[in-house]
Order: sequence, then C-alpha cells, then structure tokens
Amino acid sequence: GIPAHTLNDGTTLPALGLGTWPLDDARAERAVLTALDLGYRLIDTAVNYRNETGMGRALARSRVPREDVVVTTKLPGRHHGHAETLASFEESRRRLGLERVDLYLIHWPLPRVDKYVESWRAMIELRERGLVRSIGVSNFTVEHIERLEKETGVLPAVNQIELHPYLPQEELRAFHAEKGIVTESWSPLGRGTDLLRDPVVVTVAEALGVTPAQVVLRWHIQRGALPIPKSADAERQRQNLDVFGFTLTPEQMQSVAGRVPQRTGGDPEVHEEF
Ligand code: A2P
Repeated sequence: GIPAHTLNDGTTLPALGLGTWPLDDARAERAVLTALDLGYRLIDTAVNYRNETGMGRALARSRVPREDVVVTTKLPGRHHGHAETLASFEESRRRLGLERVDLYLIHWPLPRVDKYVESWRAMIELRERGLVRSIGVSNFTVEHIERLEKETGVLPAVNQIELHPYLPQEELRAFHAEKGIVTESWSPLGRGTDLLRDPVVVTVAEALGVTPAQVVLRWHIQRGALPIPKSADAERQRQNLDVFGFTLTPEQMQSVAGRVPQRTGGDPEVHEEF
C-alpha cells in the first residue's frame, strides 16, 4: 500500500494522489475509475475544474469502497464569505453525490477581496457538523496562514501549493513543518516547463532505471510533500504511483532542484480568477 501522512487533526492522507485539472466530466470519470483500480486513494478536484460530477460518477461506479477514498474539493474565490461558503459546499456535495467531503480547501486566498477568514470560519463549522473530515487551504502564503491562526485559532491541515523542482518553496515548507501542516504539491511534474526533459532529471532517471516523472515524484516524497500528479493515461497513472520502491541519494535530491525559480500558475498575492 501507499504510505500515509498524519495530519494535525489526527486523520491521515495517502502520500500521493491524483490531480484532475483540466479534465472534463467524462474524462475525469474515466481517469478516476482507472486510478481507483490502480490503487490511488486520494483524488483532487475543485468547483473551478468543472468535473466534480464526473468524479462523483466514478466514485459511485467504482468497486473501491467510498470510505477508502479521500475526496478533495475546493471553494472557489468567487464564493468567498460565510454564507457563500456554506452554499458552495452544498453544491459541491450535490455534484459529487456525497454525504461528506474528506478534504475541503480554500482554492485561492484572494487577499484583495479579504474574505478568506470568513470562509475559513464557515469551513470550521462544516467540520464541526461532520460534513467535512479535514479542512485546509491552497495557494496560501505564510502571512495568510498566520492570519487564520490568529483570528480563528484553527490551523489548516493542508496547504496545496505549486511545488516542483523548479519552484521548491523552501520558506513555506519550513513554515509548514513548524506548524504541522502537510504540503500538497500541485503541478508536481512542472507542467508547462521543461522539467521532465531536464538533463539532470533524465540522467538521474537513467541511473536509477526509472522515468523522469518518477524521479520528480520521488523528490517530492523524500522532501515530505504530497504530490498530486494529473494523468488521464492508465500507463502514466501506474508509473506515477510506482514511486515507493526506490530512493534518490542526497546528492541526487540536491541536483534535481533547479536554481532559477519558475512558476507554471498563478501568484497567490495577485491571483483573482479562482
Ligand atoms: P497526461 O494526462 O497525458 O498523462 P502536473 O501534474 O505537473 O500538472 O503534470 C501533468 C501533465 O504531465 C499532464 O499533461 C500529463 O499528461 C503529464 N504527465 C503525467 N504523468 C506523466 C508521466 N509519468 N510522464 C510524462 N508526462 C506525464
């Protein structure tokens, strides 16, 4: 089986999951069904991915019991606010066809809108009512998380951030470690960059007899981050899950991380779309 992370709320998460952006409902349904068959037990969606319905269909059709799967979805930025969060959650739950969501995240802080603390209070209530197992955030900076802690006394269990060897996020990683927050890595394979063709990554892969994607996923796991690679392809899904039988040396870990930071997605301070 897949190793587990213990969260600061006492629950656990598998050490790797499946991302689903930008699959539509039909493709997400197929991808999730395949992934569950292969042994994935953490799946990640969001209102803004517009594939919660497809994911819900896959969960209903799969032979894997519902309670064995960690289902993640996210509150979109346009639904920030207390009442809006509760309403948005009901809609997600209906689309997913689930009683309970296992991990519910705030997708983006939208600091200029300045409502994420209100949303967070609603998420705390959802957890108290048993409708959500664990609550967390995504794309939050140290400052945003410190504000949640100061104003509500409740730390997120997870912060899902863009993280890959070209964006190692050292400062946030150190802060998460101090607070017992699990880091989930989105764009773990550095989508949109040349990471999987990086000569250093390719050389390490050849030395270990694995693929470049496996080297990169192993880099996440050995740093204690939880990657959620997206693939709609059964063979690449299988490959991405098969990263618990080899180890990168400390030298290989060092060499894989790039020196020039590269973002593939939005900047949390200014991102307003989601
Ligand atoms: P595909 O769905 O065709 O497999 P990220 O998770 O960093 O966002 O990267 C996802 C992208 O990387 C997708 O385009 C996905 O395409 C591709 N991908 C996923 N797994 C692998 C792999 N093992 N090798 C090469 N490309 C991969």
